[in-house]
Amino acid sequence: MYNSNPTLDQKDKTILHDRQGEVMTTDKGAAVPFDKSFYIESYGCQMNFSDSEIVASILGQSGYGPTRNMEVADLILINTCSIREKAEDTVRRRLTEFNKVKKQKPGTLIGVLGCMAERLKDKLLDQEKLVDLVVGPDAYRDLPNLLKSATDGERGLNVLLSREETYADISPMRLDNNGVTAFISIMRGCDNMCSFCVVPFTRGRERSRNAFTIVSEATDLYTQGYREVTLLGQNVDSYKWENPETKEVVSFAKLLVLVAEVHPNLRVRFSTSHPKDITDEVLYAIRDYENICNYIHLPIQSGNSRILKLMNRTYDRDWYMDKVSRIYEIIPDCAVTSDIITGFCSETEEEHVDTLTMIKWAKYSMSYMFFYSERPGTLAARKYPDDIPLEVKKRRLAEVIEVQKEISTEHNQKDIGNTYKVLIEGTSKRSDDDYKGRNTHNKMVIFPVVDSYKQGDYVYVKIDRSNSATLFGTIVAHEESIPTSKS
Ligand code: SAH
Ligand code: SF4
Ligand code: F3S
Repeated sequence: MYNSNPTLDQKDKTILHDRQGEVMTTDKGAAVPFDKSFYIESYGCQMNFSDSEIVASILGQSGYGPTRNMEVADLILINTCSIREKAEDTVRRRLTEFNKVKKQKPGTLIGVLGCMAERLKDKLLDQEKLVDLVVGPDAYRDLPNLLKSATDGERGLNVLLSREETYADISPMRLDNNGVTAFISIMRGCDNMCSFCVVPFTRGRERSRNAFTIVSEATDLYTQGYREVTLLGQNVDSYKWENPETKEVVSFAKLLVLVAEVHPNLRVRFSTSHPKDITDEVLYAIRDYENICNYIHLPIQSGNSRILKLMNRTYDRDWYMDKVSRIYEIIPDCAVTSDIITGFCSETEEEHVDTLTMIKWAKYSMSYMFFYSERPGTLAARKYPDDIPLEVKKRRLAEVIEVQKEISTEHNQKDIGNTYKVLIEGTSKRSDDDYKGRNTHNKMVIFPVVDSYKQGDYVYVKIDRSNSATLFGTIVAHEESIPTSKS
């Protein structure tokens, strides 16, 4: 495995992004010099960022090292998202910028990766000639061949989706990282058919990655100094992998425990949970393991049962409420967050109010909130008119944001006076005199630097003030600590 190579010790961002001339050892033990460079921008969900690290690893084996400077890059890549129209607009704007750079440096290759690849391949490659390469999320292993084709002036296109590809054997090259927290993809694709969602079309069928490779990636990360991993999938609770030799089936709850047992000082998070699939076993694992964080991202999308039915979420308001109650019953000190869509097809004012009351009832510590954006090809686009005017969608979104802000503020006020175990991720954006880190609830905590502690250390921080997004506090001695619920 080449992640034992010191060039992959990526604690120093500047070193990471300008490593031309360095040598990387491949999985097969061969030394590959970085004689060319690539620049990559990623959009969309954490899975896309995680995929960019797989892409970086594959490119590394072909002699491409990462650079932060697109002007010097031999290859400029954009890993795209299709989830809302706005995401696609951003990509178009960036491609125009990239083409300006290419004009100055002919021979530079431009490639589109990720979720827009399938839908826009012909347009981008042939009609608008904006790019040289279009590669879908399951075709990254083909990148070296596609690069050769593109260099020879041929079409560099592969958007085939796979039923098996999980990139299980590829050690991601960590990009833009702090050397403390990392993502691990545990599955790909999605078999749910939420009517608003483009993901099943862009990423294909759900498949789970070999559990051994997940545990070994977590172990490697711990050895390299990482102290937190986030297990990623569109629907992590439906993770299911059968050991081909023993036929033993590893469920998500079992996987969580296996990763938690890598080391008590390796924190484990996961995202995203679909309310219909999260089991009591998962909740018990969170309760029983101190290093599995008390945090569940459990998107509701809408608080109204009729809308949920149209969305094909397969649960209704009451069912969701039972699930949240169960979470708070088993893990009283759990933070729950959500995703919300306003103005879905035919949503009435009363139905919208059901979403507002749900935010208050569920006491989400935070939510990601969006107005509905119709996506071509989805069930909703085919079946239901997108009939809520944009200004209504936006006004409802503003109301949802307002209520969530109130609830987040209250949630964070309750933390004042509490002491939390915080993993130091680095210095805060605003000041080098402050550290930033997260507590078990995934809340950002800011506190003054104390020289005896460094990035990657756990400290106990007593909270003395807060706003709707952040907690502020000071480091206290360990003995003083009263870890929140678990002992
Ligand atoms: N797998 C995750 C969601 C991934 S997409 C889950 O099921 O929860 C992230 C979020 O984007 C979704 O939860 C949803 O809130 C939002 N989203 C997806 N499609 C959308 C659309 N067409 N318009 C607006 N928001 C959308
Ligand atoms: Fe999209 Fe639904 Fe799958 Fe999430 S669970 S990725 S919202 S189809
Ligand atoms: Fe976007 Fe694809 Fe993720 S559409 S949200 S990048 S799965």
